[in-house]
Amino acid sequence: PATDLAGLLSSRIRDVPDYPKPGVLFKDIAPLLADAEAFAALTRALAERATALGATKVVGLEARGFVLAAPAAFAAGLGFVPVRKKGKLPGEVHAQSYDLEYGSATLEVQCDAFTPGERVLVVDDVLATGGTIGASLDLVRRAGAELAGVVVLMELGFLDGRERLAAHLDGAPLETL
Ligand code: PRP
Repeated sequence: PATDLAGLLSSRIRDVPDYPKPGVLFKDIAPLLADAEAFAALTRALAERATALGATKVVGLEARGFVLAAPAAFAAGLGFVPVRKKGKLPGEVHAQSYDLEYGSATLEVQCDAFTPGERVLVVDDVLATGGTIGASLDLVRRAGAELAGVVVLMELGFLDGRERLAAHLDGAPLETL
């Protein structure tokens, strides 16, 4: 059952106070990734959502999203596409900037990442402010794919990322494991 999965995953996420700076409580997924049972359960759950949502590709967001999305794509029998930080992908790319607390960041996807009609599941570890996923959803659409849904391992509800993402989702589901 889903509640058992959530309990297993939660029990393997470590809270690190004052990292990367004072006042921030960092959610460390290293213990989860290092635990074969928890990592397999997470991978199977992501793959199951990819299949259920009719995805034809799984997109992972640099860097921790890669670690979740790539094995899930494999388990679902699908290909993987990376959304990367600016300047890391060769050839023609779409670029999308978004606001950070101080300044801005830019994400990119290759223009030929998708063939017309593809349905994409977007995977990341954490939904915080929603800036990263919001920019990624815009990129996926600009690259010609349809959004099947978004699945994240965890959501920091007090930052209101879900509300901020509503306009980018356009009705597609946003699920938290
Ligand atoms: C973290 C996390 C998400 C993002 C969430 O990534 O992995 O991708 O922040 O924050 P947001 O909802 O406020 O945009 P980070 O930029 O630290 O990159 P990393 O995975 O490469 O460490």
